[in-house]
Amino acid sequence: MSEPTNQKILHEGKAKVAFYTDDPNQVLLYYKDDATAFNGKKKGTIEGKGYYNNAITEILFKLLEEKGVPTQFISRPAEREMIVHFLNMIPLEVVVRNVAAGSISRRLGIPEGTVLKHPTLEFFYKDDDLDDPMVNEYHIHNLMDISDADLKTIGDMTLKVNEIVRPYLLERGIKLIDFKLEFGYDKDGKILLGDELSPDSCRFWDAKTDEKMDKDRFRRDMGRVEEFYAEVLKRLQA
Ligand code: TMP
Repeated sequence: MSEPTNQKILHEGKAKVAFYTDDPNQVLLYYKDDATAFNGKKKGTIEGKGYYNNAITEILFKLLEEKGVPTQFISRPAEREMIVHFLNMIPLEVVVRNVAAGSISRRLGIPEGTVLKHPTLEFFYKDDDLDDPMVNEYHIHNLMDISDADLKTIGDMTLKVNEIVRPYLLERGIKLIDFKLEFGYDKDGKILLGDELSPDSCRFWDAKTDEKMDKDRFRRDMGRVEEFYAEVLKRLQA
């Protein structure tokens, strides 16, 4: 599967390329097999990742739409392609954690696997040069123009996504440990969920064995990465 070559690139990120379409309000996202970690310091390829992440995002975004969370999803015309609403992205990564893992374990010394007392919301400022630092509401207002109301909206939407996706995955044998979302404004100024919801942007553990089924397998050189991305999609399609 090759990238669309006849369209102009709007933006190229680490995992996806955004292309202009004939409609100024729509963008074509091309999901790559390229994998990076630690802000691009580790690079590799996860065979089939573009397809798995695109298909998994489609399933979860459709579920969220049904449950009242507006997303940028329009259609998935090809295995690695998604048509989405054009968004002016808010440069924040909004994370919710149910179980400690990754940076919260390093930062606060909470052992990986500890169930948190309450789903825990965190914001990170999207800036590669700064290594995406964690920020609070006060920092955010100094970094960008966003109203208190909009900031509360994206925090509340992220907690709502957790309430919808966590039980949905558990029924399919997957624990939602944590995940990261990104939001943007559409042409009418409405906040929509953007980016992706996939094993690249979530931690998924097998509900029975706690086996990792996400990008930590790549970050930590655990092997069998493709196998587990495929397994996540299989369980969502079952
Ligand atoms: P963290 O434990 O490294 O802070 O990651 C929290 C969640 O956010 C985890 O599900 C992985 C996801 N994530 C991204 O999607 N992109 C990133 O750049 C980082 C650092 C984490």
